[in-house]
Amino acid sequence: GEELTVMSFIEGETVLPMEAAQDHKAVWDNDQGPNTGGMGAYSPVPHMLSALFDQAYDDILLPTAKAMVSEGRPFKGILYAGLMITRKGMQVIEFNARFGDPETQVVLPRLKTDLVEILLAIHEGRLAEIELEWDPRAAVAIVLASAGYPGDYDRGYEIKIGDLPADTELYIAGAKLAGEGTERLVTSGGRVLALTALGADIEAARSKAYEGIGELNFEGAHYRRDIANKAIGRC
Ligand code: GLY
Repeated sequence: GEELTVMSFIEGETVLPMEAAQDHKAVWDNDQGPNTGGMGAYSPVPHMLSALFDQAYDDILLPTAKAMVSEGRPFKGILYAGLMITRKGMQVIEFNARFGDPETQVVLPRLKTDLVEILLAIHEGRLAEIELEWDPRAAVAIVLASAGYPGDYDRGYEIKIGDLPADTELYIAGAKLAGEGTERLVTSGGRVLALTALGADIEAARSKAYEGIGELNFEGAHYRRDIANKAIGRC
């Protein structure tokens, strides 16, 4: 089947699902090679039809939240549902009590409602008063990883950042300052950078994200060249 991520803000039995995203877990193009933490993502997922979204809410997200309440462990926070659309219907692969990476890098840039307001509302028990508003534009994120990742990799390579296009956002992960008093960054992890681009549709966001990736480099850097391909031309 095909994998989908739906993260939700939850407070007891109130579940506000975020827009769906799709991760790309395998390290190489066409989903080849070992799984990683995620090599790129896009949102929205045009083939996640509203009937599927309703099914995720009715059959998985709401019953899960209600079950935690009825077990005396009401959940407050972000619930990440990793789902698989199969011929036998929607299946749950995993739940995480956190935001997903790199899905968050394509979902939060599209969230127009103030995130702090949402988190405060969860904390204060008034999430039901919140309505989520979304930017209709699409977002695509591409991860730049160290040579060898997800296996062993060397660290300490200088990261070069050029001129990034408008409507892009650079997220720095497996990197650190080269030393005190410098602004030079060096690699320190497997997934080093993620670049998100917003565009009128997935195709526009994708081409801007790849344009931006061309402005980033470090020795041995690699990335997938097919992020969001599955979304193009589908509805
Ligand atoms: N992208 C997968 C995760 O955050 O668990």
